[in-house]
Amino acid sequence: MGVQPESGTLSRRTFTTGLAAVAAAGIIPRSTRGANDRIGIGIIGCGGRGRDHLHTLNQVKAAGEAVEVTAVCEVYRPRLQDAAGKTGAKTYMHYQELLQDPAVDAVLIATPDHWHGYQLIDACEAGKDVYCEKPLTHWRQVELTRRVVQAVNVSQRVVQTGTQTLSSSAWTQAARTIQEGAIGRPVHAQAGYFRNGDWGERMPIDDPNAKPGNDLLWDTFLGDAPKREFNVSRFFQWRMYWDYAGGPSTDLFPHTYAPLLRMLNISFPATVSASGGKFRYNGEREVPDTFNMLLDFPEGISVVLLCTLANDHPLPTVVRGEEGTLLFEGENIIVKPQPGVDRPLKVDPIHRPESMVEFWRNFLACCRTRETPWSPLDLAYQAQTALQMGVFALHEKKVVRFSREKEALLL
Ligand SMILES: NC(=O)c1ccc[n+]([C@@H]2O[C@H](COP(=O)([O-])OP(=O)(O)OC[C@H]3O[C@@H](n4cnc5c(N)ncnc54)[C@H](O)[C@@H]3O)[C@@H](O)[C@H]2O)c1
Repeated sequence: MGVQPESGTLSRRTFTTGLAAVAAAGIIPRSTRGANDRIGIGIIGCGGRGRDHLHTLNQVKAAGEAVEVTAVCEVYRPRLQDAAGKTGAKTYMHYQELLQDPAVDAVLIATPDHWHGYQLIDACEAGKDVYCEKPLTHWRQVELTRRVVQAVNVSQRVVQTGTQTLSSSAWTQAARTIQEGAIGRPVHAQAGYFRNGDWGERMPIDDPNAKPGNDLLWDTFLGDAPKREFNVSRFFQWRMYWDYAGGPSTDLFPHTYAPLLRMLNISFPATVSASGGKFRYNGEREVPDTFNMLLDFPEGISVVLLCTLANDHPLPTVVRGEEGTLLFEGENIIVKPQPGVDRPLKVDPIHRPESMVEFWRNFLACCRTRETPWSPLDLAYQAQTALQMGVFALHEKKVVRFSREKEALLL
């Protein structure tokens, strides 16, 4: 398969992070909201994840937060009506119209990957704060990923990216422990994602006889993806196809890779290589069910990310340093010294476990205070860039390099 990024060639693509644009645009952030001002949420994409968020938002509201789902948007009318029935919210089939709704202060983006970047940019330009599901963009959208960073910087919107593992305090506690020298200089880290069975094949086909029309906007679903004949599997089970998804790299690794970046305080890798393929599933699936990445950082740190969807035996997250090893055991962070290092075993209880409710509350609090949320854009940008490199490395069977000087991927 000939794989190209969304436009032009990948080589020597220049990344600029929008700082000049911030100054030039002169956009003034909306005034800070008070603790009791209701925040109206518009949900874009009312499939599986959108429904999970609706459930969480009900819990958040029950916990006393002034928040209301005021609008919902979906390209498949039965799901739109279902979400409207659960919320009483206004309905839209085009997200651009939802963004014009003054009752929407912030949006949740829970559409397939290839829509995230465009909807995030448009939401910021419409003055909305954004909770955007991972991945930040589609694996092929290298240039769009950069444009997202620029647009958010210019708009000064609050953006929480959907890596809810970052709601746990474990990673900042571990980062502090490493910075204090508990394991010496970190040199090696591992993480993974292991599952028996993939969500792709199991995504429900609501109606096997569904057809494009007024109740199912196929062209809108496609967006910038290649124009193809409608097929219920592509529409309902889009995770299996390269046009809309990136397989384990961009679908699953954000959850375990972003915490590693936070702990190690590193940004872009120098090189990424990858292996994997369809070793369990046949049939319609295009994306791999087995995927591994090796990432080397200019700081002299090597990171290993492993995944198979054929076996759920986990690979624990571990950071190895020259003087000790940092591991997670139950509710604790443990530091074990290397032989010959005279330092006691260190056990640090994790103060705040992962929580979707707390993750939403953090986003809402930041909408009010304009502070940076727990899963900020810069981390998602760094993570997505490396994970995109991993998909290109697999496709091209090459080591993909990253030039920090140019902020560009080099194939
Ligand atoms: N953070 C997590 O743990 C987590 C878990 C699951 C899914 N996700 C992410 O959430 C996103 C959605 O995944 P899902 O499992 O809910 O998929 P899904 O197919 O169940 O839901 C996506 C919905 O978006 C709709 N849609 C497509 N294009 C649209 C558009 N332009 N405007 C409005 N609606 C549109 C689809 O019709 C569908 O109903 C994915 O990007 C996925 O990575 C994150």
